Amino acid sequence: ESASGSQSNPKSVPMKGEGMLSIQGILNDVFAEAIRNAYPDLPEAPVIIMPSSNAKFGDYQCNSAMSMAQALKAQGVKAPPREIAKKIQDNVPSNPLISKLEIAGAGFINITLKKEFGHELLKNILIRGVQPPPSEVKHRVVVDFSSPNIAKEMHVGHLRSTIIGESVCRLLEFLGHDVVRVNHVGDWGTQFGMLIAHLEDKFPNFRTVSPPIADLQAFYKEAKVRFDSDEDFKKRAYACVVKLQAKQPDYIKAWQLICDVSRKAFQAIYDRLDITLKEYGESFYHERMLDVVEHLKKGGYMEEDEGRQIMWADGCKIPLTIIKSDGGFTYDTSDMACVRYRVHEENGDWLIYVVDAGQSTHFETIWACAEKCGFIDKRKVRLDFLGFGVVLGEDKKKFKTRSGDTVRLIDLLDEGLKRAGEKLVEKERDKVLSPEELKAAQESVAYGCIKYADLSHNRNHEYVFSFDKMLEDKGNTAVYLLYAYTRICSISRNANVSPEQLREAAKNTEISLDHEKEWNLAKVLLRFPEVLVKITKDLLLHQLCEFVYEVSTTFSEFYDSCYCVEKNSAGEIVKVNMGRLLLCEATASIMAACFHILGLKPVAKM
Ligand code: ARG
Repeated sequence: ESASGSQSNPKSVPMKGEGMLSIQGILNDVFAEAIRNAYPDLPEAPVIIMPSSNAKFGDYQCNSAMSMAQALKAQGVKAPPREIAKKIQDNVPSNPLISKLEIAGAGFINITLKKEFGHELLKNILIRGVQPPPSEVKHRVVVDFSSPNIAKEMHVGHLRSTIIGESVCRLLEFLGHDVVRVNHVGDWGTQFGMLIAHLEDKFPNFRTVSPPIADLQAFYKEAKVRFDSDEDFKKRAYACVVKLQAKQPDYIKAWQLICDVSRKAFQAIYDRLDITLKEYGESFYHERMLDVVEHLKKGGYMEEDEGRQIMWADGCKIPLTIIKSDGGFTYDTSDMACVRYRVHEENGDWLIYVVDAGQSTHFETIWACAEKCGFIDKRKVRLDFLGFGVVLGEDKKKFKTRSGDTVRLIDLLDEGLKRAGEKLVEKERDKVLSPEELKAAQESVAYGCIKYADLSHNRNHEYVFSFDKMLEDKGNTAVYLLYAYTRICSISRNANVSPEQLREAAKNTEISLDHEKEWNLAKVLLRFPEVLVKITKDLLLHQLCEFVYEVSTTFSEFYDSCYCVEKNSAGEIVKVNMGRLLLCEATASIMAACFHILGLKPVAKM
């Protein structure tokens, strides 16, 4: 069942594109060639290019010589790194990007860029808007995220998955990939037996009158109490599951009613956070699970284990349970059907699962088994498990309410709104903003800070949920960044320069890059494509947060030393430095592009 065997992935369409060039990427190509020509006997030589930590060492540096000296030594050739660096330098062809190369220290090659090239790239941003880096192939990516369970509370773990998944989708869409956003809702478990049995008792006329279940949570708890204490009820609950899975109309109806209640609650969260998802719950795979079982039986992949049918994969310590001893299917069965569907019917050539780190073994086993039985070919499909750590409260224990219950997400968002509102009043913004502007700012801060607090931490680690921390207006926080952005946007406005004038100026005015702080800012802005390329590899979005924060702090340094607008003692504008306003404009554009990916919604005034 493997996809056809051409070298390149048949589903990937080549993309031409004239995206925003990555300086690091170009330097990488230039030095790779220089190294190849200088040392043809070292085909594996690492090409190490990075931005210089200090402007006195140039703009970028090539640090390959040191490791190449090691590699040569292993071949019995003694060559000092400085000598290697020299030889590399001699092989660098003249090109439009580099103005100067200098060898320094142990064997570093310091690279000074041509400012003309920077001018060109920045001008492009102003005229054409922020473009993604050019990419070789367009993938069809299926991103599985959020994925809460019906009738159970959507908890902070699902919030993490929702926030991270949404940003991953936005990143990949920005890069031009074809993204399918999937909500793999848990809607087919055995919990439906007791829910339906309880529904029959409480709302016997549910077939004709829609049952007014306001609190599905409470309903679930009631059903669970009966299930655990009443043998007859338990038996009936099991019978209900069987009838549901046989798709008897009345039971499907009851199931749908229950799912709809949950669905509405989930959607309220998605609307507030501006999340887009398509629901393909576990139930969607019911028939496909039958096909999976058929396929596994035929291929002899399953074995019997105490009445269960299990499947092993090489190198995995735990087998999948495909069929339970009572004949039912499991979470494993549904994920086998699901992975097969995503590759063969959804035509995905890149599958991403944003699920808590505790499920990593589950997915490793699923993928290994799927590969073993021919559902996927790992050489043709990129698979990423995006795990994330648990959310902790400020007491460093698992995030819970005071009474020890799971925190309802809707309550959490409401508290965020309340706190953000207080913060704005504390800063006396209510005195300058209209009620509408204040409300927009409040929502922007509240939802922005919750998302950003999550995204700015390495997702692999656990993180402490603290409104106090996330609402701080200093440091790497959403509040700080949203303010900074709004302030940058207001610079031209306050100088009475209209967006039209700026657009005109972008065509015929040189962007100011002579001052050291101007050039420093430009270099950070131009790193945007290389940051995206890096994140696309490891899908660690906190690097984008670090980047946008660096943009903002570098901007402050620029703004502190470079006047954009000069005023006389009476406060009247006497001079507008258009070249610098353009640099402000480019900064705002790059920040806006980052905000879009991170799901932050800046407001015009705050
Ligand atoms: N519903 C699951 C949970 O809440 C997550 C589902 C993740 N996706 C999947 N294909 N298994 O833990």
